[in-house]
Amino acid sequence: MIHVLHISTECYPAAKAGGMGDVVGALPHYLPKSGVLASVIIPKYKTKWIAVQEWTFVQSFSLDLAGNRYTCTIEQLESETLNFPLYVMDIKGLFDRSSIYLDTDGEAFHDEAERYIAFQRSVLDWLLLENPFDVLHCHDHMTGLITFMIKYCDVYQPIKHLPTIFTIHNGQYRGIMNWSVKSMLPSFDEKDAGILDWDGHINGMATAVKCAHYVTTVSPTYMEEMKYLPDSISLLFQSEANKSIGILNGIDDVQWNPKKDAMIDYQLKTSINRFKSENKRALAQRYAFDANRIVIGFIGRFATQKGVDLLVEAYSAYLEAKNAIHFFILGSGDKNLEHDIRRLQEKYRHNVTAVIAYSEKTAHQVYAASDYLIMPSRFEPCGLNQFYSMKYATIPIVRKTGGLKDSVPDIGDDGLGITFEQASKEDILYSLQRVEALHSNKSNVNSLREKLVKQNNSWTKSAKAYSLIYQNVLG
Ligand code: GLC
Repeated sequence: MIHVLHISTECYPAAKAGGMGDVVGALPHYLPKSGVLASVIIPKYKTKWIAVQEWTFVQSFSLDLAGNRYTCTIEQLESETLNFPLYVMDIKGLFDRSSIYLDTDGEAFHDEAERYIAFQRSVLDWLLLENPFDVLHCHDHMTGLITFMIKYCDVYQPIKHLPTIFTIHNGQYRGIMNWSVKSMLPSFDEKDAGILDWDGHINGMATAVKCAHYVTTVSPTYMEEMKYLPDSISLLFQSEANKSIGILNGIDDVQWNPKKDAMIDYQLKTSINRFKSENKRALAQRYAFDANRIVIGFIGRFATQKGVDLLVEAYSAYLEAKNAIHFFILGSGDKNLEHDIRRLQEKYRHNVTAVIAYSEKTAHQVYAASDYLIMPSRFEPCGLNQFYSMKYATIPIVRKTGGLKDSVPDIGDDGLGITFEQASKEDILYSLQRVEALHSNKSNVNSLREKLVKQNNSWTKSAKAYSLIYQNVLG
């Protein structure tokens, strides 16, 4: 069996801020069937989940960085909760915080560069002491410099042979750092310094695209989009195209199973319509809204990427004229967007429910109860919500971008959802019209629901694709 170490800053249920946490927490379950044993290492944060687990000591050593000496301690999870080995790297002073990326004001931690470099170096320092792994799989820019250090830093020459895979979950975040940060890296030959550079800065993502043995994005369309962005990085994706591929994410269909889901009000038995109506009734009762209306859910980070501003515009315009739809919004993020969503709810109390929070349980309930789920993303590397919604017989409404384009063909082409081209208020409004038209034909809705729950979007298929890449880089 090939043994892969996933190196990440998130892994559900230990620490999750977004979809990357879901991916890193799910993919390892599915790899063994394709002949790959996958372990995961993340920093040891002060999250509730991490705090209540039983950890076993693995290794301890010190790390000198930016004039500070840190003690790094690696621990492994004992319990059977996860069926893959999970390691945490405890670096006191840098990661023993209750959140993953942001401080209490919602700002990025000021010592971001130091934290990520410390984590990356400590993982490689561990591998110098003991290394049971064949391949290193790095996720997003926070672990991107590993691909450089292992190749070019003198101290890591003994493990230089280990191939690296780099997966991009969100190419908007690149780990752009000042050149002064170079002093935090172990020594390397000056002639290699340019590899770290993009447009005059150290760039974690660009470095990894150059150095990794293989680069993946989380959908084929997103990989193509990276080659044609209106920014210079697109040239890099074009020149590295021969070692790059997009692999569509999957979902954990054990955790997302409407027949067994303990977080929802009514589990799926034989009737899909009963499943939908009972869950809708329960949600409507809990949040005091009219269950006779069509319910469109939105779940996600409040960020311009996700098109939340467009939703506010389109929903206001719709509700000025009509009231056949109830909009349920669950999420949190940008403070201005949170404010706009609250105002929308105050203004249209009878047609809008806003839950400004991050809640796994409420999310499961909204998937189960909604008739439709909308994703008006400006860009979407993969998106997972469309898969969760299909599993729960909720019709996706998506903008044709990235993974959404790859996974939701339009009902006009005998597909799975309602799709639109532009990230605009007009396109969303037109989709709402299509929702009303579709919804007036019960038998079409029913057959679409039947079709949605039959889709297999589990990780099984994509795990095979990753396993081929691991084999490939091992020659
Ligand atoms: C990021 C992307 C999302 C993707 C997820 C997991 O959150 O924005 O599109 O599904 O990572 O790869």
